[in-house]
Amino acid sequence: MTQDELKQKVAQAAIEYVVPDTIIGVGTGSTANFFIDELAKIKGTIEGAVASSEATAERLREHGILVFDLNTVAEISVYIDGADEADASLNLIKGGGGALTREKIVLAVADKFVCIADDSKKVDVLGKFPLPIEVIPMARSYVAREIVKRFAGEPVLRDGFVTDNGNLILDIHGLEITDPVAIENELNSIVGVVTNGLFAARPADIFLCGTKNGVETLTAK
Ligand code: A5P
Repeated sequence: MTQDELKQKVAQAAIEYVVPDTIIGVGTGSTANFFIDELAKIKGTIEGAVASSEATAERLREHGILVFDLNTVAEISVYIDGADEADASLNLIKGGGGALTREKIVLAVADKFVCIADDSKKVDVLGKFPLPIEVIPMARSYVAREIVKRFAGEPVLRDGFVTDNGNLILDIHGLEITDPVAIENELNSIVGVVTNGLFAARPADIFLCGTKNGVETLTAK
């Protein structure tokens, strides 16, 4: 099975977690795109969706799914999104597509987080995938210096990339993240950091993991 076929399988499996007659949160990336295509087939059963990026909003609308502004929504039943890495406790690295801030905001409102990914995203220790940090442009150099001072990692500016919020991304290479909640909190304490791509204070509740033997449903160990 190709990686795209695995992504499609987990996207199909995630449909089971869509709560009828509610508003759901939809993530960003290639796996989330497969999910949107599946969601379109049952769009009549939900009220609509909140999108975690402009790209996702556009794809949802193209499929005729009603997109809500988060400020008009008090409850999201479930948030469904991909990940760049996941450990056994379902702590994640996200933000490879640069949508980490809106992803974290939509997740904050959601009752449940279902992560969908193929098994190449499963790791023992987070950090091989460079950790994305969204920064206010004028703080870019300061934040990079602080990261070098405080962590054994190398921040690299994502070239030519601007987030949906008009900010920049620093990708931190070479981290070995054994205490993800502590790193998430410390990164958030640096002035100028908008969000970091660690989803550990609020990890996934369920990880639908695509393997060649089928979709495994994993919960935190
Ligand atoms: C988007 O900013 C990311 O958080 C994505 O969820 C993550 O990069 C996974 O993307 P893929 O499904 O394309 O691997």
